[in-house]
Amino acid sequence: MSGPTKDFVIVAIDGGAASGKSTSARALSERFHLLHVDTGSFYRGITAEFLRRGVAATDTDTVRGSLASLALATRLEGRSARMEIGGRVVPDAEIRSREVNDRVSHFAALPDVRNALLAYQRGQAGVARRHGFKGVVMEGRDIGSVIFPDADLRFFLQADPVERARRRASEGQQDSIVERDRLDSSRKTAPLACPPGAVSIDTTHLTPVEVVAQLAEAIAARLSPA
Ligand code: CDP
Repeated sequence: MSGPTKDFVIVAIDGGAASGKSTSARALSERFHLLHVDTGSFYRGITAEFLRRGVAATDTDTVRGSLASLALATRLEGRSARMEIGGRVVPDAEIRSREVNDRVSHFAALPDVRNALLAYQRGQAGVARRHGFKGVVMEGRDIGSVIFPDADLRFFLQADPVERARRRASEGQQDSIVERDRLDSSRKTAPLACPPGAVSIDTTHLTPVEVVAQLAEAIAARLSPA
């Protein structure tokens, strides 16, 4: 991952549920003044909206028709990009609910849903530039493979499923992460996998500080000093 230093970098962090993506991405956004983009929150927000409208993931015609009416926009909250649907940011309590945990991977497997979010996600680089950030740290399942395959830095985080379940439970969440990983890894469109050329890190026995230190070292080597 060597190369010339740049004024603006795109950092892709992919990985399964509770692999350490969000903690790392948030810390890196603070350290390097990068826009933090949690694409999982986008899939979760859309899922919450569909559940609110009573649309099922199996009803693909209604899903397709509804996507056009979502009116997606971005609101900045500190260093994070929050997705607005029709002018409203879906509250955290709603996007992390049991219902959304259970349904999100079913909606995320639909090519129409992924296509609807493609340009929106790529557009976050423009949001970051317009607001004077030094880059984007974007986390998800297909960032280094589909959204930004040419990202300056691409990481893939993994951890033992037992450790990941422990982390999620310690956040007080009921979340069937093994089932979500199964659905995310086996879907036809943009399955969860370490893309060729990405740096894979096993976080099972690492503290968040140790994970961030590894990623930060690589970013510091690519980003031009202020
Ligand atoms: O927080 P956690 O890692 O458990 O999940 P998340 O990042 O909030 O993502 C929730 C779900 O959204 C995933 O299980 C995927 O089904 C979907 N997702 C996706 O398909 N592609 C992405 N780039 C991000 C999330």
